[in-house]
Amino acid sequence: MAPIVEPIDGAIGATVTAVDLSQELDATDRKTLVDAWNEHSVLVFRDQKITPDELLSFSRYFGNLETHVLEQYLHREHPEILVVSNILKDGENIGIPDAGRYWHTDLSYLSEPSRGSILYAIEIPEEGGETLGNTIWASTAAAYEALPKPKRKQLEGLTAEYSLGNRFNKLAEDGAQHQKMSEAQKDLTPPVTHPIVRTHPITGRKSILVNEGHTTHIHGLPEEESRTLLAELWAHCTKPEFTYRHVWQPGDVVMWDNVPTQHLAICDYALPQRRLLHRTTLTGERPV
Ligand code: SIN
Repeated sequence: MAPIVEPIDGAIGATVTAVDLSQELDATDRKTLVDAWNEHSVLVFRDQKITPDELLSFSRYFGNLETHVLEQYLHREHPEILVVSNILKDGENIGIPDAGRYWHTDLSYLSEPSRGSILYAIEIPEEGGETLGNTIWASTAAAYEALPKPKRKQLEGLTAEYSLGNRFNKLAEDGAQHQKMSEAQKDLTPPVTHPIVRTHPITGRKSILVNEGHTTHIHGLPEEESRTLLAELWAHCTKPEFTYRHVWQPGDVVMWDNVPTQHLAICDYALPQRRLLHRTTLTGERPV
């Protein structure tokens, strides 16, 4: 049986059924998924049961895998898996507790940001029957296309600085519990310059790359003007009409295209409510 792809109402996302990700997929089914990923940006697979090896095999259908710079949060036996979790073992976080606290595009602080990411849900917090720790994706391509023409013209040619340090500074400012970056991690992630608007390598759609988590400022603009334009773009990108909110269940796999999207994880839970997901991250290209 071939995978069935059904768009979710709105600007972004599709559900995929009739597919078992623990099994090897043939070339036709892989192409169906690659095409759906490019078209819908976010794909949701429910009721999966996969081992770390199966998650890695599935992820490799879509490209090569990154090993995340925050090596303290990598899966011990499978370093291409980033553990996303608030669970403690011997007083230490077993994973990154707040990977998605700010709107961001994965690895936009690298010269070659990630093309896409895949999350597999293992434990999801809930309270009184309500599921916590949802994740929201925004189509920054739909957001770009909705901008008035003069605003799109204004953004043409503008570049900005992106930095992983920005995220850690924000966590500190917000008083959120977090580990500091090591000197080696800082050396591996110097600030980079990317355009504000990028073009998708396959679909050719333009999308807004600047994001709250990683963008520090727009080059060539006075500080206040840069801050105002960034705040305006972030508020625009994350309007409900451009978003899909995922309410996780254990066994969900969600994969997304990082080029035309940003995402945010809602940090509305705390131990003893446990959240545990495994993430793989695909390598990408320099944004143009
Ligand atoms: C991430 O930003 O990749 C993590 C998202 C999440 O924890 O839901």
